[in-house]
Amino acid sequence: MNLLLIITGSIAAKKCKKIVSELSKKKIIIDIIVTNSAKKIIDINPLKKIIKGKIYLDSSEKRKKMLHIRLARKASLIVVCPATANIIAKYSNGYADDLASTTLIASDKQIVFVPAMNVEMWNNNINLRNVKKVLENGAEFIGPDYGKLSCGETGLGRLSNENKIIQIIYDNLKNTHKLKNKNCIVTAGPTIEEIDSVRYISNYSSGKQGYEIAKQLILSGANVTLVSGPTNLQPPTKTKIIKVKTAKEMNRVVQKYNKFDIAIFTAAVSDISPIKTTNKKIKKNQLKNIILKNNPDIIKNFSKKTFKKNNLIIGFAAETNNHILNAKEKMISKGCDLIVVNKINKINNVFNSDYNRVSIIDKTKIEHFKKMTKKNVAKILVNKIINIYMDK
Ligand SMILES: Cc1cc2nc3c(=O)[nH]c(=O)nc-3n(C[C@H](O)[C@H](O)[C@H](O)COP(=O)(O)O)c2cc1C
Repeated sequence: MNLLLIITGSIAAKKCKKIVSELSKKKIIIDIIVTNSAKKIIDINPLKKIIKGKIYLDSSEKRKKMLHIRLARKASLIVVCPATANIIAKYSNGYADDLASTTLIASDKQIVFVPAMNVEMWNNNINLRNVKKVLENGAEFIGPDYGKLSCGETGLGRLSNENKIIQIIYDNLKNTHKLKNKNCIVTAGPTIEEIDSVRYISNYSSGKQGYEIAKQLILSGANVTLVSGPTNLQPPTKTKIIKVKTAKEMNRVVQKYNKFDIAIFTAAVSDISPIKTTNKKIKKNQLKNIILKNNPDIIKNFSKKTFKKNNLIIGFAAETNNHILNAKEKMISKGCDLIVVNKINKINNVFNSDYNRVSIIDKTKIEHFKKMTKKNVAKILVNKIINIYMDK
């Protein structure tokens, strides 16, 4: 397990030695980035002696090309501890002006911030807004805790207890392997059904939710095949991407897939398509003569086949009315173990948004969640999958 620790310029940087030493005893390979400000606060030589990895400073990038990319890719998890108000502000606004901030922005991994600062700094609305943005982007926070601060004041801003930090980092690192060797298929995006050379039937799906789920599965160590309808999204690194256009094509790809552990169907597959298409533009007055047919039911076809016992089939439902009832029916009729439902209305305008508000339904219960980013919906779903596998 590879940990990238970023130490920034808080007085609490002095507490890192214990954290680094305990995690190294657990056979974790730790690389450390020390910011210029942190370097003025701590002596890095004792850390060098403890870790199996290396310590990097801003000057290291001059010697090693693309160091920020290499460090971000090598890590299983990135922890910023202690995290200053400055690094949180830089990350939340996309700044990349030193090795630490550039590595963070280049990261495709889970990031954990462990803040430590004066109580007024923490409670400053600007800082709290930055924290909110960072949380929405899927990063996690440990603390800060309430207590006596180095500056002599008391309040929220103290670095969390070191043992708690060590335990959470260790648990997070273990999470990066929990779905190792699990084969997952995720469908995402809309499908496009051609009418003629200029027109098509489709829907507003952006594919964002499915792509975020693929990303989170990768972060948990799974092998992911993403079958995607047309989108403008960048597939997550390490995903096998299969691009399709129509429901028929998506069905063909999905049905071939039989060595899987987890199948998640987020794609908004067009229910209908014209029985025939033409490469000429159909005249306006002929359009009403178009005959439509139902497209294959991808989930139903897939779940009908016999797979191993431990497989999980997860469907998504977008409903405007009776959303829970309709989704439950869909879960049963399509043979899913679990269904994620979003009620589409003016408040929850899911399509093309970065936010979603979902309920997760399984055979025994329904869980309702507040509106959150699609990234965080993906994290909740993948944690649920991990828990299901842990219980088996
Ligand atoms: C002795 C000392 C202690 C500091 N402690 C903190 C702190 O606990 N939290 C914080 O957010 N900033 C603290 N600062 C301010 C940061 O070091 C400063 O904002 C710096 O620009 C942070 O840079 P970095 O985020 O790149 O490490 C401290 C500064 C000094 C000189």
